[in-house]
Amino acid sequence: MGRVAGRWSVLGAAMAQCILAAAAVLTLSLLVRGEGGVERGVVGGGSYVAAVYEHRLIQNPQPKVPLSRREALEHMRQNLDVFEEQAAAAANQGAQIIVFPEDGIHGFNFSRESIYGYLETVPDPTAVSWNPCSDPTRFPNTEVQHRLSCMAKAHGLYVVANMPGSEECQTHIPPCPPDGRYQFNTNVVFSANGTLVARYRKRNLYFEEFDPPSDPQLVTFDTPFAGRFGVFTCFDILFYSPAVELVERLGVRQLVFPTAWMNQLPLLTSVQAQRSFSYATGAALLGANIRADTLGMTGSGIFTPWEALYHHAGAGAPEAGRLLVKTLPVLDSLRPDLRPRSSPLPLLFSGYQEPQYCLQGDGECQGTAPKGWGRLEEPATLSSPFKAEMMYDRFTMVLVQGTEGSLSVCDNTLCCHLLFRRLTAPQELYALAAFDGLHVVHGTYSLQVCALVRCGGHTPETCGAEIDHAHTLMDFRLAGNFSVRHVFPGVLSSNMQLDRPDHSGWEGRGNMQLDRPDHSDWEGRGFYMSRRGMGRGLVTAVLYGRAYDQDHTQTNV
Ligand SMILES: *[C@@H]1O[C@H](CO)[C@@H](O)[C@H](O)[C@H]1NC(C)=O
Ligand SMILES: *[C@@H]1O[C@H](CO)[C@@H](O)[C@H](O)[C@H]1NC(C)=O
Ligand SMILES: *[C@@H]1O[C@H](CO)[C@@H](O)[C@H](O)[C@H]1NC(C)=O
Repeated sequence: MGRVAGRWSVLGAAMAQCILAAAAVLTLSLLVRGEGGVERGVVGGGSYVAAVYEHRLIQNPQPKVPLSRREALEHMRQNLDVFEEQAAAAANQGAQIIVFPEDGIHGFNFSRESIYGYLETVPDPTAVSWNPCSDPTRFPNTEVQHRLSCMAKAHGLYVVANMPGSEECQTHIPPCPPDGRYQFNTNVVFSANGTLVARYRKRNLYFEEFDPPSDPQLVTFDTPFAGRFGVFTCFDILFYSPAVELVERLGVRQLVFPTAWMNQLPLLTSVQAQRSFSYATGAALLGANIRADTLGMTGSGIFTPWEALYHHAGAGAPEAGRLLVKTLPVLDSLRPDLRPRSSPLPLLFSGYQEPQYCLQGDGECQGTAPKGWGRLEEPATLSSPFKAEMMYDRFTMVLVQGTEGSLSVCDNTLCCHLLFRRLTAPQELYALAAFDGLHVVHGTYSLQVCALVRCGGHTPETCGAEIDHAHTLMDFRLAGNFSVRHVFPGVLSSNMQLDRPDHSGWEGRGNMQLDRPDHSDWEGRGFYMSRRGMGRGLVTAVLYGRAYDQDHTQTNV
């Protein structure tokens, strides 16, 4: 679980906010426009079919009360029965891999003691080769692994699931807990014949009844149809290890992501986080979330850097699971033989700039090259900077006034710069927001954020509120002079529909400087994104920078 359980104990009120935020949201499941035609026409060997299942959890009504193993198995069977149906449905649609959400089998809100009946020892698949379906008695108390293994085998697909794992330890050998066992939030992966092929123990815990692994590992598994996949879970997505380390150090470009994510507008709903990660890292991300309306949990998807199929359900929609199935190109950087020739891998964290040949007036690029924002570089009517809280951080903001122009706002060492043009009447209030500092509520992590957000009302204090709808059509170019390398761009439009930048990248470095502003109090260096011609109202445009090396404190509690 990530971004989640802490609120139960730390701040119950936050939950109410998340629920309100989702209230106006419709059920969506759509295909976002592709860009550059990179995926078009991909068929045959260079592609595969993936499924994610957003699961409406059948929760233990009294998770704090310890259950016998038999009772715990009976509870988990109910969730596994649903998984079985969905694995069958996914296989029927040709899926070769299915991802189920974090906590989807057992639930959450246990205590360290009450989860005991749910625990299984998950052997290390790099040390033993084990197919629980064909060899169920090799390890005791492994009924859940047996069920998942047989599910994979029966339906002939890779199964990725999350379960509570344990490992006995000697209490006199630290850090063994006093009860003589480690408890791990564990992802397991079974190959299409039922063999256990990966075990990942969640590293960045979020106020959970689990222990962090004392020997953290980067976990991957290889498939015959798409090469290598990396594994991480939920809150991990906000940290360098293992999420970014998998892509940066190991070159992994396909990721499975079981999550139990409580949505938080305006910057960090589940699908926003998944899409931005995929976009910034140039990786495919298969994200499966829990559906639990009382906890504000929904938002699953299959993302490539270019396209996305996703689902974000609102409070009005029936509380039900959702299976998503999509064909996508192989993106294993180590297996160019599997990759379609039309799927070049984007560079990590460098954005998607206009190809340079456009600058030279290549015919193919005519009409798509941006025209420059020239006239918009006039300063807009300036409001004074003010402080407003957004997602527990005190941002420095300025109001975005008038119909077009440019403005800047700085917080500590980060200056954010906006060029904008409203295409609709300026009735809705927006703010340009900057934050450069340490986030300390529900986890500690260091941020540099530039955001253009729709305010909740008509006064500055409402800027940063959780809002998910807007009518204002706006062209914009947002930039910040980040000192960090890891910037995650994201664009959210009205009613929880994801958009994406037309262009993004580093400016003032190298020779690709299209769309470069030249405003006097702006040095014109940093990371930018631009977007024009959105079909829906703009809710949030964000450049979410992470200063991983400034994270002082452990997030485990
Ligand atoms: C989680 O447990 C706490 C008590 O420890 C309780 O107050 C809260 O309602 C529970 N939340 C859910 C979602 O079950
Ligand atoms: C089952 O799958 C594993 C992992 O892909 C593979 O190593 C093994 O050879 C397969 N076994 C059989 C009997 O096909
Ligand atoms: C960003 O620009 C401001 C204003 O020019 C400057 O004071 C600050 O040092 C810059 N920050 C970085 C990280 O370069």
